Amino acid sequence: MSTGKKSDVKRVTTHVLQEMKNNGEKIAMLTAYDYSMAGIVDEAGIDIILVGDSASNVMAGHETTLPITLDQMIYHASSVVRAISRCLVVVDLPFGAYQGNSKEALTSSIRIMKESGAHAVKMEGGSEIIESIERILSAGIPVMGHLGLTPQSIYKFGTYVVRAKEEEEAKKLISDAKALERAGCFSIVLEKIPSKLAAAVAKEVNIPIIGIGAGNQVDGQVLVIHDMLGINKEFSPRFLRRYNDLHTSIKESVEHYITDVKALDFPNEKEQY
Ligand code: KIV
Repeated sequence: MSTGKKSDVKRVTTHVLQEMKNNGEKIAMLTAYDYSMAGIVDEAGIDIILVGDSASNVMAGHETTLPITLDQMIYHASSVVRAISRCLVVVDLPFGAYQGNSKEALTSSIRIMKESGAHAVKMEGGSEIIESIERILSAGIPVMGHLGLTPQSIYKFGTYVVRAKEEEEAKKLISDAKALERAGCFSIVLEKIPSKLAAAVAKEVNIPIIGIGAGNQVDGQVLVIHDMLGINKEFSPRFLRRYNDLHTSIKESVEHYITDVKALDFPNEKEQY
């Protein structure tokens, strides 16, 4: 019998995601950073919400993902967790919260899990972070990997262009993906790499591969919600599909409200006590 409580809902777990890959069912993932948006996204039936460090760009207006802090990520994540009843919530470990050493990585991950109630963490990098991944996993915290374009290393790359087009970088990416799988990651995000390479990775590793700008021969897709809803119109990479034009819609609504206030049209008789 259903009591209508959150606990009645069949939740998406890392095991459910693995079953989805095994059965060929695609995984849909989106970012969210606040209570109201996360509630809508979960209600729509998303499988994974990523509390991405892209919050640094779309919520805080920074040029890169580097400035966002662990405390700020925990604030966003706890707001998201309070809103959802079904999806898996994954939180980015922000720049500076895990690169130092594996102890720091574990301490940051424990803070995220304890203080936000999220279900997993995501980390950018390959073989160089395996020790940290293993230490986090040994504490029972699921880890999602992130390879290809890793925005926390933007100053090393120097640009946001497609990664791993050359054979050497492609080989390293495949070997990193295998290393992440061996270490125990439950899934990997591949960002902005050739679709053929992404397809090869999705075939060669058994865990779910989620793509962003990585073609459709992977196990799922992720987009930044502000980009796909057309809230943020400055960002137009080829891989982005816009499902709405909320920028225009919100602007027109605000203009309408201003006009009504100035014209003494709002509030009207029915809208007051
Ligand atoms: O921070 C983020 O939104 C991400 C996605 C682009 C995968 O890492």
